[in-house]
Amino acid sequence: MPNIIDGKAHSARIRESLKEEIALFKEQTSVTPGLAVILAGDDPASYVYVRNKIKACEELGIKSFAYYLPASVSEGELLGLIDRLNSDVNVHGILVQLPLPEGLDEESIISRIDYKKDVDGIHAVNAGKLLRGADALLPCTPAGCIELIKSVTEISGKRAVVVGRSNLVGKPLAIMLLAQNATVTICHSRTRDLKEICRSAEILCVAVGRPNFITADTVKEGAVVIDVGINRVDGRLCGDVKFDEVSLKASHITPVPGGVGPMTITMLLSNTLKAARLQCGR
Ligand code: GUN
Repeated sequence: MPNIIDGKAHSARIRESLKEEIALFKEQTSVTPGLAVILAGDDPASYVYVRNKIKACEELGIKSFAYYLPASVSEGELLGLIDRLNSDVNVHGILVQLPLPEGLDEESIISRIDYKKDVDGIHAVNAGKLLRGADALLPCTPAGCIELIKSVTEISGKRAVVVGRSNLVGKPLAIMLLAQNATVTICHSRTRDLKEICRSAEILCVAVGRPNFITADTVKEGAVVIDVGINRVDGRLCGDVKFDEVSLKASHITPVPGGVGPMTITMLLSNTLKAARLQCGR
């Protein structure tokens, strides 16, 4: 039987120590880390994610500021809100929940966030710093994946394959694996011989948003498999990896739910403390 990588347990451990760090930070600086979360539109899944982020902040002693805007919000209004949050000293992190409703330009909205407050790590400055190996706010989901992989295996020297090339997950995850000295291949919808490439992976990370996309014949015996997908099929959550059969072949695998998901929010909390430290010079 493979080992299930328990993202919930890892997450709980990290949050416990973050809670202590935040309490100490408040004591030393009299500053409470603050996170602003903006949700435009009424996508039910995004609403649940945002609610969970707000709840997690409360549990750790981070002050949260939630902004629920209609899908009809204009780009000008949204940019105006970001400008106000950029100059609000009580707000150390700003997160704009994605995807944005149609008609809003993601690139111009994300680039308006002060990169020092970009706790999602997706501003071009943070993406560039990640690429160059400089200290940066890192995207939460890939950072969570790296923590989970490190908990079960040494990354250095391993063959890693990332399936998916989004700006939020696939691309930054590949760069983070490279920074850990893995030999990295990125696969995507136009990749030829995808199965064969995946079968070479000692570490296989999948973030394509397609239920059960990765089957057992796509996985190397003994691989570490990280499933970033969160798909809803017949009212039930499932990942991008066909868990029942791949779990018989992998040495370690993340479940959905309870794998990468909880780590994403944990890394957001960690980034918020990091951003507050940067802004307070502590
Ligand atoms: N939508 C799904 N995951 C994320 C995330 O990590 N950050 C943001 N901003 N939106 C998301």
